[in-house]
Amino acid sequence: MISKFTMKLFLVILQMVTKAFLADSHPDHGGCSSGMFPCENMTVCLPQLLHCNGVINCDDGADEENCVNDVGWPKIFNELLSNNGSSSSRTSDGSRVANCTLNQYPAGCGCSGTAVNCQDRGLRTVPQVSPSVTELDLKNNEIVSLLDYQFIAYEQLELLFLQDNRIQSISASAFAGLVKLKKLYLNSNNITHLKPRIFHNLFHLKWLILENNNITEILATAFEGLKSLLFLDLHNNLLRGLPNTSICSEMPKLNWLDLEGNQLHTLQSSSFRGCNEVTVLVLNRNKIERIQAGTFSNLNSLVELDLSSNRLKDLLPSSFKGLHELQQLNISNNPLHQIYPDEFDDVPLLRSLSLEGLEIPNIHSRMFEKLTDLHHIYFKKFQYCSFAPHVRSCKPNTDGISSFENLLASGVLRVFVWVVAFITCLGNLFVILTRSFITTENSNHALAIKSLCCADCLMGIYLFFLGAFDLRFSGEYNQHAQAWMASTACQLVGSLAMLSSEVSVFQLTYMTLEKSFSVVFPFSHHRASKKRTLSTLAVIWLLGFSLTLVPFLCKESFGTYYGRNGVCFPLQSDGTERHGARVYSTGIFLGLNLVAFAIIVLAYASMFYSIHTTAARTGERSAVSVEVALAKRFFFIVFTNALCWIPIFLLKLLSLLDLDIPGTVTSWVVIFILPINSALNPILYTITTTSFQEKLKQCLQKNKPSLQDTQGKSFVLLTVHSST
Ligand SMILES: *[C@@H]1O[C@H](CO)[C@@H](O)[C@H](O)[C@H]1NC(C)=O
Ligand SMILES: *[C@@H]1O[C@H](CO)[C@@H](O)[C@H](O)[C@H]1NC(C)=O
Ligand SMILES: *[C@@H]1O[C@H](CO)[C@@H](O)[C@H](O)[C@H]1NC(C)=O
Ligand SMILES: *[C@@H]1O[C@H](CO)[C@@H](O)[C@H](O)[C@H]1NC(C)=O
Ligand SMILES: *[C@@H]1O[C@H](CO)[C@@H](O)[C@H](O)[C@H]1NC(C)=O
Ligand SMILES: *[C@@H]1O[C@H](CO)[C@@H](O)[C@H](O)[C@H]1NC(C)=O
Ligand SMILES: *[C@@H]1O[C@H](CO)[C@@H](O)[C@H](O)[C@H]1NC(C)=O
Repeated sequence: MISKFTMKLFLVILQMVTKAFLADSHPDHGGCSSGMFPCENMTVCLPQLLHCNGVINCDDGADEENCVNDVGWPKIFNELLSNNGSSSSRTSDGSRVANCTLNQYPAGCGCSGTAVNCQDRGLRTVPQVSPSVTELDLKNNEIVSLLDYQFIAYEQLELLFLQDNRIQSISASAFAGLVKLKKLYLNSNNITHLKPRIFHNLFHLKWLILENNNITEILATAFEGLKSLLFLDLHNNLLRGLPNTSICSEMPKLNWLDLEGNQLHTLQSSSFRGCNEVTVLVLNRNKIERIQAGTFSNLNSLVELDLSSNRLKDLLPSSFKGLHELQQLNISNNPLHQIYPDEFDDVPLLRSLSLEGLEIPNIHSRMFEKLTDLHHIYFKKFQYCSFAPHVRSCKPNTDGISSFENLLASGVLRVFVWVVAFITCLGNLFVILTRSFITTENSNHALAIKSLCCADCLMGIYLFFLGAFDLRFSGEYNQHAQAWMASTACQLVGSLAMLSSEVSVFQLTYMTLEKSFSVVFPFSHHRASKKRTLSTLAVIWLLGFSLTLVPFLCKESFGTYYGRNGVCFPLQSDGTERHGARVYSTGIFLGLNLVAFAIIVLAYASMFYSIHTTAARTGERSAVSVEVALAKRFFFIVFTNALCWIPIFLLKLLSLLDLDIPGTVTSWVVIFILPINSALNPILYTITTTSFQEKLKQCLQKNKPSLQDTQGKSFVLLTVHSST
């Protein structure tokens, strides 16, 4: 009855899977098809994989261009540096050989030309030097405060290094008189606020570095007078907001604004008004939840915008309106719910787009269609790459299990999936057939074994399907990945593996318990009747089916349970699956299976112990040999079980600890480790048992009586004794 039911189910699964298998692939869309990029003149298409592989594949070499993502600030930084144009000649360390021209500078400090170097001198106050100084380096001292008119005499000073001190307070007129100052470094101090108009004399200041302080608030008036400022670095402070008049109102030339690592939570439409010169705006690692409409609309020189690692849940397409020049955009690691199809329509010059860590359920090629200049795109999953087929460099290109090209990324796995499938299926089929033809006296045991083999055979069938789909998608998996994982075929194939492993586990536990009871309690234990065996098997299969099917029934709490990776097996946890799915998978692999494994180990241990004490009491030789045989058997069965399940327990345990498990591990586990039991069970439970071999021998002898004598002894020697 059970086998008929399973047969029927099988046929249904087979039909659905073959249907999916033969389904048409996606139709090509214009230009290059999905997963391909065009060489320069758009006539030749190459797979994304060939981009920057070190070999010229396009006639015009276009595939090896733009390999390094130097879009955005690295480029601008270079331009800015090469554009220094100023007279200051002693900025670089190489030219410190000039003789000192200053009369006065602190003993212990270095002097070269008009530059004074007082690094690491333990200074507590700003020292006195000659007025003609142009460069004053006070890096890494213990200066606590800057007093009024501290630098009033240094009219020639161009560079002032005050980083890595303990500056807490800066008096309102501390920087008075520094009319030629170009760069002011105040990073890594203990500054908590900036007094109004504190920089108002620094007409020529170009760089102002305030990184790594504890500034909590900035007033627009703090920056009054910085008419030439190009570069403002406020990285790693505690800013909760920006001045509600524009930050650029006092700094019309501001070119580069770094606000990374602050506490900003809203960007107001007025925040960047008038920032027409800003080319780089860095806002990552803040707490931005909301960007008001029109916030960026004046940034018409902006080349790079970094909004990554914030708390944006929604990003309206109009957010990027006005960013005509934008080349690099990073919105990765935000809890965005979706990306609008026309999200990037306003940034046609974009060359690099980072969407790492973003789940994009509504992904569509429409989103990236208008970005014709896009060279680099970064996603969370490699499957998304097929939606941006014209982009040369799309990362990541594998999830460890699958790659752009193949369902199974590793060549070894692609071959061995077939080998393991054959071994598993043939071994189990062989046992099922021979057990059917060669009847042993204990038909209940045979029934249990056949049921076990059926379950194990399913694992082989699962592997066959994996191998078949791998062949089918060969070379172009990337185009099918998303559809494959969402397909019913994948879900069914995955549930096949799940059913197989669970039924196999229950069956082994049941058989072990049955056997150990008959050994440990030889007199009180009654052999199972046929009826009881049948009903137990039915219960086991029902349990297996229900465990497998539960995720289909409660779609809400499980989401897609089976189709989360190319191999459709719910072992890997990537942190994005539903809570229910995670708990369920852990419960089965780390709960149920661990308990079953423990029961098997305990049962064999008690069996072993019981026979050992009997043998010691009676001192019989035959009992000793039984003991040895049983010990071997115990070792092999527990060993193969352990081989199969301990890695899986460990994997599950590690994923509970939120450790990232590479997909490669999952694919090797699914193809080599999970089927270990299924492939070895027929050998352990049938082929190596004496009773089976004797039966087989009898059969052979009937056909070929001449073989009779030669094999008798070796069989007995080689085999492990069956305890029944
Ligand atoms: C690509 O275009 C160039 C001219 O722009 C042409 O000479 C060349 O033959 C084209 N290559 C192919 C493969 O069509
Ligand atoms: C700054 O300009 C000078 C002269 O124009 C040039 O020699 C120097 O290399 C420039 N510095 C940098 C870092 O480009
Ligand atoms: C420094 O002064 C010494 C002696 O006054 C002179 O020989 C040397 O050439 C000077 N070096 C430079 C780089 O001007
Ligand atoms: C920074 O300043 C605060 C007071 O504003 C003080 O308590 C703290 O010790 C200072 N930290 C350092 C490293 O000087
Ligand atoms: C800045 O403030 C944080 C806490 O808000 C504190 O841990 C840190 O030591 C402060 N930095 C300095 C240099 O005082
Ligand atoms: C902007 O700042 C001014 C002065 O500090 C204040 O009166 C006003 O309420 C602020 N506006 C907003 C929208 O916060
Ligand atoms: C985008 O931001 C993320 C997180 O800050 C970072 O890891 C990634 O490297 C950035 N991408 C680019 C292209 O800079």
